[in-house]
Amino acid sequence: MNKGPIGVFDSGYGGLTVLKEIVDQLPQYDYLYLGDNARAPYGTRSFETVYQYTLECVQWFFSQGCSLVILACNTASAKALRTIQQNDLPKIDTIKRVLGVIRPTTEVIGSFSKTNAVGILGTNGTVQSGSYPIEIAKFYPNIKVYQQACPMWVPLIENNEHQSAGADYFVQKEMGKLLQQSPDIDTILLACTHYPLLMNKIQQFIPQGIKVLSQGKIVAGSLKEYLIRHPEMEARCSKNGQLSFFTTDSTEDFDNHASNFYGKPVKSSHLQL
Ligand code: DGL
Repeated sequence: MNKGPIGVFDSGYGGLTVLKEIVDQLPQYDYLYLGDNARAPYGTRSFETVYQYTLECVQWFFSQGCSLVILACNTASAKALRTIQQNDLPKIDTIKRVLGVIRPTTEVIGSFSKTNAVGILGTNGTVQSGSYPIEIAKFYPNIKVYQQACPMWVPLIENNEHQSAGADYFVQKEMGKLLQQSPDIDTILLACTHYPLLMNKIQQFIPQGIKVLSQGKIVAGSLKEYLIRHPEMEARCSKNGQLSFFTTDSTEDFDNHASNFYGKPVKSSHLQL
């Protein structure tokens, strides 16, 4: 049987916040990370464009021997995952699997809220897709979901401006709009894998007692359980503890920024799609 690394994908750097937690919980596997930085951000793009870009990247992972690919990007999970799972995978290879970050998060979100009022912060694409309210309603029909798109946050983070006074302005603005929607919100989900980099600023602008959740640990825990439940897939994942990083844009820029997200120095290779 051919074994290969687990693929982890994001439009840019955000997926590294998820990869970090996955490697922490499952260090024995090999991982291949791809950031499509040349075409980021995805958050403002149409369904069709996000789907085409994501499919192209998924096919690249398959060509590199991955049997399992994690879309560590909410926008791609919201706009491309279902079509890839239902229409493309049956034609490409029935053994390969692509998983996203929305399902694992919505499965557990109810355990964090006492008031049954949850706030979602995401890109325009994620919010407009309605994926979170739809998925949360399946697991927790009593939970009320309030959403707020934060279109400036990914550009601020991708441009390394997330510690600046300019970032304060945009964080305060979007947090205010979310919290205005209901005084009951006691749990806020960062439904974009870039946003954990703004965690400190977000904490400054919320009343005490509101929990702010990022997805990395949740997704990593869910992958761990998935591999236990699917030994046939686990057997296809190689285990040498190796990591490779690819970007569709400049490797120099990627290596300079990536450690902010991954917490360690990263050395990437270029991929021309
Ligand atoms: N990190 C991606 C997410 O989780 C989005 C970034 C983008 O807009 O490209 O949604």
